[in-house]
Amino acid sequence: MLSEGAVKEINELTGKYANSRSVVMPALYVVQREYGYITEEGMREVANILGLRPIQVFEIATFYTMYNKKPVGKYHIQVCTNISCSLLGAEYIVDVLSKKLGIKVKETTPDKKFTLSAVECLGSCGTAPMMQINDNYYEDLTEEKIEEILKSFR
Ligand code: FES
Repeated sequence: MLSEGAVKEINELTGKYANSRSVVMPALYVVQREYGYITEEGMREVANILGLRPIQVFEIATFYTMYNKKPVGKYHIQVCTNISCSLLGAEYIVDVLSKKLGIKVKETTPDKKFTLSAVECLGSCGTAPMMQINDNYYEDLTEEKIEEILKSFR
């Protein structure tokens, strides 16, 4: 069950948008922060708070990749593999991360610290190749930069 604070936050969001359907996306971020991923219960709670049918929340949560549908590690590494990043070595970046972490894409390390994902464009094409770890961007990636970044999280 969502905390009182989360419910309050979602209710406050309704005052900032034209209609309830527009609140679904930011409300899902609240759910993700609260539970660590988007649970079915969380989607139903959002629908209930916003006065929507559950399908109106499910369809949005399942369409967008930024909503995690299953638990992720403490640090969720999302490597952009869209065109600009791909042209500048995104697949190599994924390989480097995969080898250093000992996991494949869509997997989490046994200690639940890192999850590795390949995602669509994150809107930072000018600094490709890039990745997002939790809420932060890491850009112009090289193998050396990745080593330093991972060290800072260990
Ligand atoms: S293609 Fe990678 S950020 Fe846009």
